[in-house]
Amino acid sequence: MSRPLRVLLGVTGGIAAYKSAEIVRRLRGRGHAVRCALTRSATSFVAPLTLEVLSGQAVLQEEYLEAAGSGVEVHIEAAAWAEVLCIAPATAHTLGRLALGLADDFLTTTALAFTGPVVTAPAMHSAMWSHPAVRENVETLRRRGVRFAGPIEGPLASGEVGMGRMADPEAIAAAVEAAVLPGPLTGRTVLVTAGPTFEPVDPVRFLGNRSSGKMGFALAAEAVRRGARVVLVAGPVHLGTPPGVERIDVRTALDMKAAVESVAPAADLVLMAAAVADFRPLHPAATKIKREHGVPFLELEANPDVLAGLRAVAPRAVLVGFAAETGDLGVHGPAKLERKKVDFLVANDVSRKDIAFDSDANEVTVFRRTGEPVFFPRQQKEALAGGLLDLFGGMLPS
Ligand code: PMT
Repeated sequence: MSRPLRVLLGVTGGIAAYKSAEIVRRLRGRGHAVRCALTRSATSFVAPLTLEVLSGQAVLQEEYLEAAGSGVEVHIEAAAWAEVLCIAPATAHTLGRLALGLADDFLTTTALAFTGPVVTAPAMHSAMWSHPAVRENVETLRRRGVRFAGPIEGPLASGEVGMGRMADPEAIAAAVEAAVLPGPLTGRTVLVTAGPTFEPVDPVRFLGNRSSGKMGFALAAEAVRRGARVVLVAGPVHLGTPPGVERIDVRTALDMKAAVESVAPAADLVLMAAAVADFRPLHPAATKIKREHGVPFLELEANPDVLAGLRAVAPRAVLVGFAAETGDLGVHGPAKLERKKVDFLVANDVSRKDIAFDSDANEVTVFRRTGEPVFFPRQQKEALAGGLLDLFGGMLPS
């Protein structure tokens, strides 16, 4: 944290609203000034007095819509005061209102009047989070540059476990800072892919690969630390979301293509560290393939090459491919740089046990359009992520 921020925390009506007290504590603990704005239903879940005491500032509620006698509307004043607007928890209803530009209460009127960065921390049942209406609203907001902290997978208010739990207060505080504080990548949007894809064979089997997601997650975490807005498209992996990163979970190559293409037009830098399956079963079986029926014949078809088609989708982005090779990096690297039409190609040797797949370390050679290849000796993936971002960041137009 390099300087104190003025944070307007919007709290909307969901059970996670009780955690807004902890968000205020985390933000204040980091030295930031916080004002809280509660929707009418939020006051059923958290007492305004709690937030008033923790923030040290009067809580903004519906009855303050007009400042008595001053002639200045409070929502305009609050929007002008704040450097960052954070809405946590953000209900499905509030996301819908933001996407539509509705202004039917203090918080949404303030959001319309606010011109700075907006961070939302959605919280809802997983069925609501995956509803097409919510998906569309989220995409609309993402396209407008609204940042998402979470949601994450975990226990829900219903007692079930699923996607929709609000991100941890610490992660939300980190996302608020990343939205405002300058770093070498401040103002940039970085799209990262990580992990494998799973291509279904039948309801219980799939074609996958050994990618753990560690390389991509390290890149995403480092890009956030450098101030970027980071969207991480993750295949099926067992890794927690780095604080401040917006995560989209996918399973198949086709899912990954759709997610990547929805974000890529807004990206300045695309880092494709995922190991995307080149082939998928042509006819995945609807029921489990039985051993008694003999060895099945598995016919495959090609998946689209997500990266090779990206130049048309994201013409202004610096494109970085990763290449999983089993030797001859010097031959395959430059060839892939051309074939995939990327600016950089990061080649690693996946036949080695001490690097690449599922290892905490990696060793890579980066091939580029201009200049000699750059060799990064074996090191932790976190450290390598820093070195790679130094190299790619230098290519971003000012
Ligand atoms: O996840 P970890 O365990 O940390 O391991 C890291 C890693 C070894 C997976 C990573 O460093 C890496 O090499 N990722 C790329 C793996 C890969 O798919 O390589 P490829 O040579 O098959 O593909 C080249 C590029 O095209 C990749 O950027 C890939 O994302 C992309 N691609 C591939 C196939 C496809 N259908 N669409 C794609 O976009």
